Amino acid sequence: MRLGVNIDHVATVRNARRTFEPDPVYAAILAQMAGADQITLHVREDRRHVNENDLKRIIETVHIPVNLEMAPTEEMKNIALSYRPNRITLVPEKREEITTEGGLDVVSLKGFLKGYLKPIKEAGIEVSLFIDADLNQIKASVEVGADAIELHTGPYAEAWNSFNWKKVEEELSKLRLAAKFAKSLGLRVYAGHGLTYHNVKPITQIEEIEELNIGHSIVANAVLLGFEKAVKEMLKLLKERI
Ligand code: PXP
Repeated sequence: MRLGVNIDHVATVRNARRTFEPDPVYAAILAQMAGADQITLHVREDRRHVNENDLKRIIETVHIPVNLEMAPTEEMKNIALSYRPNRITLVPEKREEITTEGGLDVVSLKGFLKGYLKPIKEAGIEVSLFIDADLNQIKASVEVGADAIELHTGPYAEAWNSFNWKKVEEELSKLRLAAKFAKSLGLRVYAGHGLTYHNVKPITQIEEIEELNIGHSIVANAVLLGFEKAVKEMLKLLKERI
């Protein structure tokens, strides 16, 4: 199973101070060196974390595929066609949300998406749609010409976080069924959102899922795993006092 590392929240920390560190490009290089299969990033309308300059620098720097998550807007289409990531993943986007809340409603957007995706597909960019584990959304994804879907694991992760094991099992069943159905229709199947070191294992057991995209939990662990070292480095400078 492949791992796409989402580096958005490295940029969240950078942007908290409107400074240059930590640079998400460094994080992308380190992820690549650690063996990640892909770098994933979400350029949002409000640029609250990464921006198109980060996208450009990451594409120029890393040697693993880059997956751009984006809302289906004209602005984002132009960004995708200018910078040419290996893949785009269409996600719904609401300005006031903390993170992506639900899957894209491909059923309602079917007519629009066919035209929207045409130039992106013609540019040779793989198209993935971030959707809920819903069979109608999967059928519609095939109809609009998607190459792949990314199943939204958020409801599963939320059930896990609230220790609602019955709901965890229900969500897992939906994900299993959706993954099987999508694969049988010829779609590549990815998944992501809300996955952590604690809840990822059952998802890895779903054999149709080729790839997971994980961000927040990896960044959160990176902060803690590196904290002691970072404090020691600063103490060293203070103690040297030269
Ligand atoms: N996949 C998609 C489509 C997303 O929108 C996100 C969040 O940007 C992720 C995966 C990663 O989610 P998380 O940060 O919760 O691991």
